[in-house]
Amino acid sequence: MSESSGKHSPSRRRFLTSVAAAGAGAVAAGAARAAGPDPLITEVQDWARATGDGVDATPYGLPIEYEGDVIRRNVEWLTADTISSINFTPIHALDGTITPQGCAFERHHSGAIALKKEDYRLMINGLVDQPLVFSYADLERFPRQNHVYFCECAANSGMEWAGAQLNGAQFTHGMIHNMEYSGVSLRTLLEEAGLGAAGDLKDKWVYVEGADASSNGRSIPMEKALDDVLVAFKANGEALRKEHGYPVRLVVPGWEGNMWVKWLRRIEVMDGPVESREETSKYTDTLEDGTSRKWTWVMDAKSVVTSPSPQAPITHGAGPLVITGLAWSGRGAITGVDVSMDGGKSWQPARLAAPGQDKALTRFYLDTNWDGSEMLLQSRARDSSGYVQPTKAQLREVRGLNSIYHNNAIQTWWVKANGVAENVEVS
Ligand code: MTE
Ligand code: CO
Repeated sequence: MSESSGKHSPSRRRFLTSVAAAGAGAVAAGAARAAGPDPLITEVQDWARATGDGVDATPYGLPIEYEGDVIRRNVEWLTADTISSINFTPIHALDGTITPQGCAFERHHSGAIALKKEDYRLMINGLVDQPLVFSYADLERFPRQNHVYFCECAANSGMEWAGAQLNGAQFTHGMIHNMEYSGVSLRTLLEEAGLGAAGDLKDKWVYVEGADASSNGRSIPMEKALDDVLVAFKANGEALRKEHGYPVRLVVPGWEGNMWVKWLRRIEVMDGPVESREETSKYTDTLEDGTSRKWTWVMDAKSVVTSPSPQAPITHGAGPLVITGLAWSGRGAITGVDVSMDGGKSWQPARLAAPGQDKALTRFYLDTNWDGSEMLLQSRARDSSGYVQPTKAQLREVRGLNSIYHNNAIQTWWVKANGVAENVEVS
């Protein structure tokens, strides 16, 4: 019903106005709506005239069509082809900390393979008392654990080393996801094979590889292998999706995503690292003097404001504004996040939605009253080791400009008075 249909009595209109105004409080949009009767309130809508879909309509649910833009996206010039490829989590559009598998970034070196549980085999060999092969059903019979961890590709934010480039948190920081994994501790499986043959474990390594053509082989020091590494088969309660390594992947908490071998096929106990392609020519950082940092496994503390951000502009004008983002550290838990609105000149503490968890994403909020003037919005994370996220200048001073990987610098969004945000750098 429109206003011109004349069915609203003045008294009814006043009533609606006062309800809207009372409910709206300081939020300007609600007050504007109260100017006239709202047919969404006054009229019976189609969805209330008949029954909705039955329970048999959606045996397995997907997001409603109106959320169709909350999807993984590519950066065209980064994705030479879809076999050796990367896409990005839409972190600008998510809340909380858990990443749904359906929009969690993917990185494959030779495409995602379809491997049936029945065809799955995991071999443990090398310096073990008894080389073993496990089927999927075998793995399910070991004591299981559940843990939430983030997985960040070492190349996340890599395009931003030389200057602000990609316009959106999805593209600058979206090579990350955070899921609850269910699986067996790698320690349990190694002990099943027996590590007596390995002798002193201090200088021993495991070499892990996947069943895909790239194999993505990586060396992991024994100390980490026996600490918190998981052989995981469920994520967020359900089977791993094909693109995340179905039926079994390695979870290496806090360490670079490349070590999280998907379609895990073999674990060899060795007396040294293999120095494979993925840990020498790739995933290392070349410094100004031409030497490279070696064994840069741990992902240092990092954070980003996810909204407002270039893909999530402010659309409501001045007044109450929720600033939110994500923080994480491979060295432990996030203990605090500060937010700056003036490019790092002054900071205020954000509110952590929940106490930081070990090697998992932490959601932060700053509930503020925006005066409508432009902001240089930044966030800065601190972790339980005392480490504070560095500025781009601080990071470049140590690493120079040759690096691709391990960029954990503070990100700046220039939020203009009209609410539009842009990726910029402050010096
Ligand atoms: N494992 C195999 N077998 N093959 C791969 O190409 N890519 C690695 C790692 N494990 C890869 C792999 C890289 S570089 C990253 S960042 C993570 O998987 C990404 O995991 P995801 O695709 O589940 O996001
Ligand atoms: Co990666």
